[in-house]
Amino acid sequence: MAVGGPLLRLRLSLFHHLPFANLHLYPLTTMTEATSTSVATQDILVHTEAGVATITFNRVDKKNSITRDMYAAMADALAAAKDDAAVRVVVFQGDVAIFSAGNDIGDFLQQPPATQDSPVFRFLRGIAAFPKPVIASVCGPAVGIGTTMLFHCDLVYAGDNAAFSMPFVNLGLCPEAASSLLVPQMMGYHRAAEALLLGEPFMAEAALEVGLVNRVVPPTECNGVAQAQARKLAAKPLSSLIETKRLMKGGQQAKVLEVMAEEGESFGRMLREPAAREAFSAFMEKRKPDFSKS
Ligand code: COA
Repeated sequence: MAVGGPLLRLRLSLFHHLPFANLHLYPLTTMTEATSTSVATQDILVHTEAGVATITFNRVDKKNSITRDMYAAMADALAAAKDDAAVRVVVFQGDVAIFSAGNDIGDFLQQPPATQDSPVFRFLRGIAAFPKPVIASVCGPAVGIGTTMLFHCDLVYAGDNAAFSMPFVNLGLCPEAASSLLVPQMMGYHRAAEALLLGEPFMAEAALEVGLVNRVVPPTECNGVAQAQARKLAAKPLSSLIETKRLMKGGQQAKVLEVMAEEGESFGRMLREPAAREAFSAFMEKRKPDFSKS
């Protein structure tokens, strides 16, 4: 059952090849919060070439839903990219038919993020405060954090099959990633209420209209367009890029991190409450959730 609603149940033609599959991509070894031991995950691939670090969601069989290890891998990749003088731009990409189904629901049920140091919150702070340009290439569904992370990207390119949704209320949760601040700012309050209170999905053209997306292209071209823009940025003076981004974001950076922390507290608490547990159990059991008691 798709918790994200009927519009999201897009049985899109599956082109499961990645446009940059010829490049050597490597799995990231990362540290888990729970064990502090190194684990390798094949589900996030990182490749750096010509000043561009490309982070690829590589869990297509589970619709690129994001586990704790994947969040840790992405947080580590961002931290490394920040300090690596050879990296000037970061690109996030998924598959041509799916960007990400958001948090891995089973993973969240079993080990909900307990503290602000949890991998999901580390990743969110990392992307929100990342000083160099970040680009996203989005095709297919982008659910939950698959959409909210885009508010922290500088450029977003979308396939014409992109479907964005933030169904937190439908899951007994509340917004994360400072989306309660950033979505109304970008879309206006009433459109934000449709997206966040009703949890209604919106397609690529609507995302273009509200300014979440820079350009809509055929899905098979999307990663290529994002890479071309990344190469353009990588050829520019890095100090100017960093200073320009800082000046554009500067006034609001502290507020974004403050809202993110407040949302994180609520999100963590609500994950353990009956409504979310019912929504997540219903998803796992492929049935409709019953919120009559929550
Ligand atoms: N967490 C864990 N597993 C997920 C998942 C998620 N967020 N999203 C999809 N999957 C798994 C499904 O359980 C299924 O696994 P199975 O093959 O072992 O049964 C597999 O991925 C394929 O998912 P399915 O729903 O059959 O694909 P679809 O193409 O019909 O729909 C989505 C794709 C993304 C629209 C739909 O999977 C969906 O709505 N997912 C939940 C999104 C969500 O609510 N995320 C949480 C946000 S906080």
